[in-house]
Amino acid sequence: MNPNTQSKPPSPHNRTITLSHAERTSYAAQLLTLKRPASVKRLTNRILRQDMLEVLPLLPSAFVDLLILDPPYNLRKTFNGRTFKETPSHEYQEWLECWFPSVLRTLKPTASVYICGDWKSSAAIVAVASKYLCIRNRITWEREKGRAAARNWKNCSEDIWFCTASDKPHEYTFNADAVKLRRRVLAPYKENGRPKDWQNDEHGNHRLTAASNLWTDLTVPFWSMPENTAHPTQKPEKLLAKLLLASSHAGNMVFDPFCGSGTTAVVAQKLGRRFVAIEQDEEYACLALKRLALAAKEARIQGYEDEVFWERNAQHHTRNHTQQSHL
Ligand SMILES: C[S@@+](CC[C@H](N)C(=O)[O-])C[C@H]1O[C@@H](n2cnc3c(N)ncnc32)[C@H](O)[C@@H]1O
Repeated sequence: MNPNTQSKPPSPHNRTITLSHAERTSYAAQLLTLKRPASVKRLTNRILRQDMLEVLPLLPSAFVDLLILDPPYNLRKTFNGRTFKETPSHEYQEWLECWFPSVLRTLKPTASVYICGDWKSSAAIVAVASKYLCIRNRITWEREKGRAAARNWKNCSEDIWFCTASDKPHEYTFNADAVKLRRRVLAPYKENGRPKDWQNDEHGNHRLTAASNLWTDLTVPFWSMPENTAHPTQKPEKLLAKLLLASSHAGNMVFDPFCGSGTTAVVAQKLGRRFVAIEQDEEYACLALKRLALAAKEARIQGYEDEVFWERNAQHHTRNHTQQSHL
């Protein structure tokens, strides 16, 4: 055999979650497929393996507190052999429009909605969302990873649109204190010899700051992270933790109709929320179930420790680990 064609053995530090044949068979049997309308009880904490367009008419009305929409972006992308093509913006908008009202039927009047996209899909998202929801903010997530372009700016940010079903100022949940970011203090001013707005502990000078709409503290899952799977657009658990902590309470129902590798469901379970999630691809849906089983044993969320979000690559002694860990 030509040594150049031999595949490299996986790194011993590669923690990517995979499925054995036996796991795939056993998880597939635990997936739900709906043929008729289902009660909230039947759906609670389940992963549905089905086309969301088929499922939406079978769901109850007004049972969701928080909706996470992470649909395929308007890009060429292959999800386990199924390829989504880039289309003109108006076609992407028509596609959003064809399911948006049915998904909104599931919302409680106090619900919040987050919609993920990039600069190309955002125009269509805003056009559709503004018809039905109150758009409250746009979060810009610096993705860090991205392919350099010879004749354009490297594309390494994404948008997350924050919307609510109600346009009234107090008819939605927002827990600002639950999503504070712990930042290093670069200029540690003192007043009367005492730290001004900052603290000092064994991790250095830091300040807890209000979460802004510019997120630079997130790492895209990669092979050495225990949450990583082979899903091509997996969101970081830390990102979902921010959304769920800000916009839901323990016990609330979180719905994700484009669940992929299950990040929303996993974070919901780790943070004591209920969930319903839909994914049309069986392998991804099985990966979501495996991640849920792992989360039942390890509820830590990388980058969220002691009820605080830590900056990217901060080092910290965790409560349960004597070694320093990267957050
Ligand atoms: C952007 S990814 C979501 C990634 C996910 N947030 C995660 O962290 O893994 C979109 C997912 O939607 C799934 N999908 C696309 N169209 C769908 C449909 N009509 N019904 C159900 N799932 C669908 C794709 O297979 C893909 O896994």
